[in-house]
Amino acid sequence: MNTYNPPSLMITFWSRFNQSHRDLFIAICTIASVFFVSAKLDISEKFVEWALLHESLQLDELPLVLFAAAVVAIWFSRRRMREVVAEATRRVEAEYASKESQRMFKTLFDQGLCGNFVADLQGNILLCNQAFSSMCGRSEATLNLRNALGKSWDDLCNKLKAVEKVDIPELSVKRPDGAPWIVMARLTCALESPTSEQKNIHGFFTDITEQHLAERELGVLFKENQSLARHAMQVQEEERRNIAREIHDEMGQYLTAIRLDIATLPKDGNNAVTEHAKRINSHVEHIQQGVRGLIHRLRPTALDAHGLIEAVEQLMSDWKKQHPTVACSLILEKSCQNLSEKINIVAYRIVQESLTNISRHAQAHFVDVKIMRTRGILSDTLSIEIQDDGVGFNPHSPRAGFGLSGMRERVEAEGGVFHINSNGKGALISASIPLTTALQALQENK
Ligand SMILES: Nc1ncnc2c1ncn2[C@@H]1O[C@H](COP(=O)(O)OP(=O)(O)O)[C@@H](O)[C@H]1O
Ligand SMILES: [Mg+2]
Repeated sequence: MNTYNPPSLMITFWSRFNQSHRDLFIAICTIASVFFVSAKLDISEKFVEWALLHESLQLDELPLVLFAAAVVAIWFSRRRMREVVAEATRRVEAEYASKESQRMFKTLFDQGLCGNFVADLQGNILLCNQAFSSMCGRSEATLNLRNALGKSWDDLCNKLKAVEKVDIPELSVKRPDGAPWIVMARLTCALESPTSEQKNIHGFFTDITEQHLAERELGVLFKENQSLARHAMQVQEEERRNIAREIHDEMGQYLTAIRLDIATLPKDGNNAVTEHAKRINSHVEHIQQGVRGLIHRLRPTALDAHGLIEAVEQLMSDWKKQHPTVACSLILEKSCQNLSEKINIVAYRIVQESLTNISRHAQAHFVDVKIMRTRGILSDTLSIEIQDDGVGFNPHSPRAGFGLSGMRERVEAEGGVFHINSNGKGALISASIPLTTALQALQENK
């Protein structure tokens, strides 16, 4: 049942209009009421009569002045209105931009692959993203960084009071479930809010646990490999030494015996026998030379007897005799004389193999060999360089031979660095091998 209710009807009717229509309606009503009251009460006539009585005050000009003032006021108010509208639009846009940027930063924070978090100075996690949550085994609610980092948390907080941010390349964090957790971290300190004195820590963790464990395993494997290679080289050298000794003692003696026997053959004018004896003697001499060369290659006697300098000098002079057209230069520092046996062997074998490679592959006209000892703060270094001006080769292409890889293995087994430089014009083989520590060197020199 509909009940007649005038006020509510009016409110319904009134709410149908928008603000500007309502304003227009109020203006029309006001003007009409003023006109009606003025007409009824003859206000204007009375005012004009009164103004005429006071002609000297020029009050009859007042309506026009008021009209002009009203026009100016309307004009000003419209301008102000436009300004207010523009300001309001600007604010709306700024608010929108701020919301957008907030959304963007939230996405960056939440979706980042780094574990992002905000913690208070007591180490409680106030806010964190998904990556952080999965990094810490979804235990962010129970994780307390002060407990997880121990004393280093307080040290970091103290440091952050002095500097804006702290980068830690490797930080070991105690995960609540006990699993290993190693991170690369950046921590910054920021006020909780512009009005508060309270400071919070903003942290960014990159999980490097896997990488760290793999590196550690790789390090162990590398060390094992290094000592295996060193052992293999030692065994090889020992074996070579034994073979050289065997050849020398067994074959050498018999060859000498053969020559002695030939010398004792009767020279009774039988030309055929004498001729055969001479030929056998020269064959045996040839074999003896070959055997001597072989023994020398297996174990350079000069290296044991006189040290590296003489052994390399002899090697070079033998090589020069075999390659008279190749110009050779040799720089051998005197300080390289008293090196350990294993380093002597490594250096000698590198020069030997490099010279063999040059004669086999390089077609060089010039060879330069340098062996130098550089004194360092922590350790002395032995540098070996063999340079030629031959055809060169691509050091990165796969190779069948074992010469270059053997050199590398020997150097790396001693903790050194091996390099091949070749760009189509010559080749440079270089090796740096750490020698003694400075302390040891000092003790040696005493
Ligand atoms: N000084 C050099 N000049 C040109 N090529 C070289 C030189 N040293 C090495 N090589 C190239 O590198 C390859 C590998 O050398 P290496 O490992 O000593 O094996 P091998 O001498 O048995 O072939 C050689 O076959 C050769 O092509
Ligand atoms: Mg070779």
